[in-house]
Amino acid sequence: MIIRPKVRGFVCVTAHPAGCAAHVDEWIGHVKGKGPLKNGPKKVLVIGASTGYGLASRVAAAFGSNAATLGIFFERPSEEGRTATPGWYNSIGFTRAAHAAGLYAKNINGDAFSNEIKAQALETIKNDLGQVDLVVYSLASPRRTHPTTGVVHKSVLKPVGVSYTNKTVDTDKGIVSQVTIDPASDQEVADTVAVMGGEDWELWINALKSANLLAPGAQSVAYSYIGPEVTWAIYKNGTIGIAKNDLERAAKSIDSILKANGGGRAFISVNKALVTQASSAIPVVPLYISILYKIMKAAGTHEGCIEQIQRLFADHMYSARGPVFDEAGRVRVDDWEMRPEIQASVAAIWPRVTTENLAAETDIAGYRGEFLKLFGFGLKGIDYEQDIEPHMTML
Ligand SMILES: NC(=O)c1ccc[n+]([C@@H]2O[C@H](COP(=O)([O-])OP(=O)(O)OC[C@H]3O[C@@H](n4cnc5c(N)ncnc54)[C@H](O)[C@@H]3O)[C@@H](O)[C@H]2O)c1
Repeated sequence: MIIRPKVRGFVCVTAHPAGCAAHVDEWIGHVKGKGPLKNGPKKVLVIGASTGYGLASRVAAAFGSNAATLGIFFERPSEEGRTATPGWYNSIGFTRAAHAAGLYAKNINGDAFSNEIKAQALETIKNDLGQVDLVVYSLASPRRTHPTTGVVHKSVLKPVGVSYTNKTVDTDKGIVSQVTIDPASDQEVADTVAVMGGEDWELWINALKSANLLAPGAQSVAYSYIGPEVTWAIYKNGTIGIAKNDLERAAKSIDSILKANGGGRAFISVNKALVTQASSAIPVVPLYISILYKIMKAAGTHEGCIEQIQRLFADHMYSARGPVFDEAGRVRVDDWEMRPEIQASVAAIWPRVTTENLAAETDIAGYRGEFLKLFGFGLKGIDYEQDIEPHMTML
């Protein structure tokens, strides 16, 4: 079958198996190019391992430190004549490359919020790895079925308290418009915290600890975002920001558990705004990212997921000096994004960007290219006119 991108709003409903594998290979190439980590992780559990920051964490651990990795994700498998979601193909591509390098890599596709998938992961770690020394928690999900109550919580991306009006861009059509988003109800805030807050991370760590599957000194990290004032109403001070505050609360409680477990630690890494499936669904943010990419590329400081996580591992988690924390105990690999001169340039462009000048004032072309790459399109060396089998079995 010839597979072409079919973009519908902020998703692409097709994915290219060979393109996804080539994308993963690019990331592996970046990590190898940076050289091995000294005293890097050896046995790693990545929750949310198939795309974005989680996949980058898995690649950085495996190819920067020869780590064995167990990846948990929730992807739609392929069928006869129908493509899978990209994380399915990414994980097959990653696993092939890891096995070819002689590395252990196993995958569990299912709902990480459920007791069943946790039990399956624990069993796999017990049988295959003994213990893990790093747990990366990188889920981004629109819903969570609570494992004890059975209630389905749906997360929303809304402001809190007052409605919010700002510019946004339809990245597919290239139209800049005003969007007004009504504030979330108390229930919506609570639901978003239930999905994207820290409870599930704590459940994972407690389950691992109770089963004695955390190596002495094991670390855990989860990812957050803060960003500039222009996005605060929808992000930092919105429903997702409140959920991220709960993730920070969880980081502190997990940190005490891991400190008592042979001097480990848990913390939040605040990462850069990047094109991923999760961020493309947030109003306002894609326009900010398009401007940010233009400024950071011009400044020579642009990074993608793999550059961010490789730097997090090399300069913080596994550096001789250890992680550098901000006043709230977080690592900041959003530091280059938040530099005053970068933010001043973004702020200067923001009020003047329109549909007409979008291509000149922003890196919308770069945004679109990155977005398509998430689905395996636009990769060098792939012949997209070639017939390809979409149905692939997970390794
Ligand atoms: N994209 C950004 O700009 C950005 C910036 C800073 C921080 N972050 C944070 O990084 C984390 C990861 O986000 P991302 O942008 O890489 O997202 P993503 O959409 O690329 O990845 C999400 C991952 O979670 C998995 N997943 C979702 N629901 C699941 C479930 N129920 N069970 C098992 N796996 C499930 C997916 O399969 C995938 O592997 C999030 O906490 C996000 O807030 C993102």
